[in-house]
Amino acid sequence: MSATVEETTELAPRLPADNLRRAVRIGICGLGTVGSGTVNVMARNGEEIAARCGRPVEIVQVGARRDNAACDTSKLNVTREIFDVADNPDVDILVELIGGTTVARELVLAAINNGKHIVTANKALIAEHGNELFAAAAEKGVTIAYEAAVAGGIPIIKSLREGLVGNRIQWLAGIINGTGNYILTEMRDKGRSFAEALAQAQELGYAEADPTFDVEGIDAAHKLVIMASLAFAMPLAFDKVYTEGISGVSSEDIRYADELGYRIKHLGIARRTEHGVELRVHPTLIPQRRLIANVNGVMNAVLVNGDAVGPTLYYGAGAGAEATASAVIADIVDVARTLEAKPDQRVPAAGVAEGSQAGPQVLPMDEVVTSYYLRISAHDKPGVMSQVAKICSDQGISIEALIQHEPAEGEALVPVVILTSRAKEARLREAVAQIEALDTVEGEVVRIRVETLG
Ligand code: HSE
Repeated sequence: MSATVEETTELAPRLPADNLRRAVRIGICGLGTVGSGTVNVMARNGEEIAARCGRPVEIVQVGARRDNAACDTSKLNVTREIFDVADNPDVDILVELIGGTTVARELVLAAINNGKHIVTANKALIAEHGNELFAAAAEKGVTIAYEAAVAGGIPIIKSLREGLVGNRIQWLAGIINGTGNYILTEMRDKGRSFAEALAQAQELGYAEADPTFDVEGIDAAHKLVIMASLAFAMPLAFDKVYTEGISGVSSEDIRYADELGYRIKHLGIARRTEHGVELRVHPTLIPQRRLIANVNGVMNAVLVNGDAVGPTLYYGAGAGAEATASAVIADIVDVARTLEAKPDQRVPAAGVAEGSQAGPQVLPMDEVVTSYYLRISAHDKPGVMSQVAKICSDQGISIEALIQHEPAEGEALVPVVILTSRAKEARLREAVAQIEALDTVEGEVVRIRVETLG
């Protein structure tokens, strides 16, 4: 049934013309890399942004503890008290770019409470406190937009929430930490060790002095959980992500992976299964022929497989002042366009109805099924291979490929590299424990999961 003119008018009341033309008023909190990038891009592209928005976008206040020489704030109203921005009645949209989770959470809640819409680049804030923040925003009828929180300038949130909305997403897999990808690329291309590649990343300013968040997968877990919440309509479940970093990846494994036709990438993987959603971040062997296997350096990429569209790949800069500002400004324009719309006329911000705990369960890691790369240090004696093969076969795991080169001159140990069939994690762990207990095997077995992403 088509709506009558009166019904249409009531659903979307027309605003007075002067209100429609009024500038959208932004308050930016934080003038670090992304904050200064946002100020600069808004100054440079102000006319295009206003045209696309249908009205001017004006920065009415900036809250920052200190200035940043990377941007000119001489014509802006700058306060050192960031909470002034949350309390400023002239601010329509508060852009949170201070980072961290404690003050940022309080700032965002204060702004929501004052009826302001939020744009944020803060993945930790959304991943760890998103459920609470979305519920608060729903109560106040305001929006939280967070495109810049995942994969910098790549519009992956918009793709998941809007572009792919007609699909049942089967799985997604992403290189979503540029620092880690840079380190793995250097290790492969230049034969550097992990420590050398990390030091190089720190020298170039890609890695922090304390690189834990990037190299141990916490940053990627934050981003993964945000994408999964949208892809599978589930609450943010950061504490349920299985997270393994890249500090244990060696150049030797990168070389063997090459020999087998694979690359090692640090992936965030979310997959729908009959029994729940897999959420995991770990080093992964992926076939060299996949486009995503060839995403190198600090670049990010996310592969999303929808039932209707099939595989789609999103590639671009995952960090950097202006690349991230690009995503922040896209959110500002999106929010600005629907400023006067009723909350239920906007694209929902969260994967589930705000505040709801519904949605699929996260699958325990023991239940996850993958193939494995194993590297075993074995004594060069008869019978070792048959012992390893028997242990695998007893656990229902078959050996798909195997490499064993001659031992190096004077070496008693030889590396035996195996690619296994797909098996449940618990089975594989049991097999590895038995292999490690063999007299003919030394030390721990190196294990890296394998995904074909096909
Ligand atoms: N530290 C992140 C990375 C960038 O290396 O990808 C910000 O999310």
